[in-house]
Amino acid sequence: MIKKILSSMVMLSCLHAVAQQKGVITPGAIWPDNKGVHINAHGGGVLVHKNTYYWFGEHKVEGDEGNRAQVGVHVYSSKNLADWKDEGVALSVVEDTTSLLVKDCIIERPKVIYNQKTKTFVMWFHHELKGQGYKAALTGLAISKNITGPYQYIKSVNPHAGIWPMNIPDAYKKTDTTLNVEGIKWKSPQGQKLTEEGYFVRRDFKKGQMARDMTLFVDDDGKAYHIHSSENNQTLHVAELTDDYQNFSGKYTRVLEGKANEAPAIFKHEGKYYMISSGTTGWDPNPARLSVADHPFGPWKELGDPSRGTVAENKTTFWSQSTYIIPVKGKKNAFIYMGDRWTPKNAIDGRYIWLPILFEDGKPILKWFDSWDISIFNKN
Ligand code: GAL
Repeated sequence: MIKKILSSMVMLSCLHAVAQQKGVITPGAIWPDNKGVHINAHGGGVLVHKNTYYWFGEHKVEGDEGNRAQVGVHVYSSKNLADWKDEGVALSVVEDTTSLLVKDCIIERPKVIYNQKTKTFVMWFHHELKGQGYKAALTGLAISKNITGPYQYIKSVNPHAGIWPMNIPDAYKKTDTTLNVEGIKWKSPQGQKLTEEGYFVRRDFKKGQMARDMTLFVDDDGKAYHIHSSENNQTLHVAELTDDYQNFSGKYTRVLEGKANEAPAIFKHEGKYYMISSGTTGWDPNPARLSVADHPFGPWKELGDPSRGTVAENKTTFWSQSTYIIPVKGKKNAFIYMGDRWTPKNAIDGRYIWLPILFEDGKPILKWFDSWDISIFNKN
């Protein structure tokens, strides 16, 4: 009941039925592409390439099964971040039942980065296998020489089989899996302790670690990081990719151990790395979390909730869940929070909550805007 009241309050305060106007970003509104069709790129990310923005995301279909991949990853392009051109399907699911990328699998949170050395666009995405729910916890790789695709599917992995995280104490590096964990609640003090002490890392050591909600981040020195919810969504892993971005280098850390973060999105501002993430409430929104670090590997320090709205808005991050943070090209200190307002009963109707990141006492914060455009950053 409380949830219902809360949700209608948020809906009233920040859900706007109006369609997006040209040149303007209207969070939560239907967002028509150049063909007048609501953009279909959920859990997305944006890559800036040659003065153009490319928005990649999950192509959803109608209905309550619409979160399963029937099409693949959709891509759009834009010059001003408000008006988007449909560039078609970048990565397609296949009919071949022997392929892991068969229709009806789950493809979530696709992110694309460009590798200068190999002149290749590299896409990673959270991949779950057909008919297995969220059990596999894989990360998938696809590559293309053209930014808009078609991307060629390469593989899906549980990363770091047989490799310990760099920051796990030696005392926890044992391979005992005899512990009976049945009935243990991971959020209870006992569960938390087990998690912090690396129970899941040990459990998955041989097979490879879980990789669910994910993002990619390329640092100024060209090094790329794959950041994902691991360990039953209890702990994030920050993993370095190889120079061609197509493999895991083997260097990774556990981050915010036992704090159950999902939906990580990272940006760099004045030499510091900031992360906005969410808690773990499935398609329902929850309060965003802000953390800061001096290096992607951490340690990450929690800075609290970045939302500055009404109580109801803060409790739901303006009814959204983070997916990416866009650095605005040609502008300093200009970043955009990209969030999803999921609609699991009709997945295709999911809305996009994009808000400018503002700074308060040097720290990133989020405030609601009914509508805005990138000239907001001219004041910086
Ligand atoms: C969310 C996650 C989404 C999706 C959903 C499924 O927590 O962020 O990407 O996996 O759970 O319930």
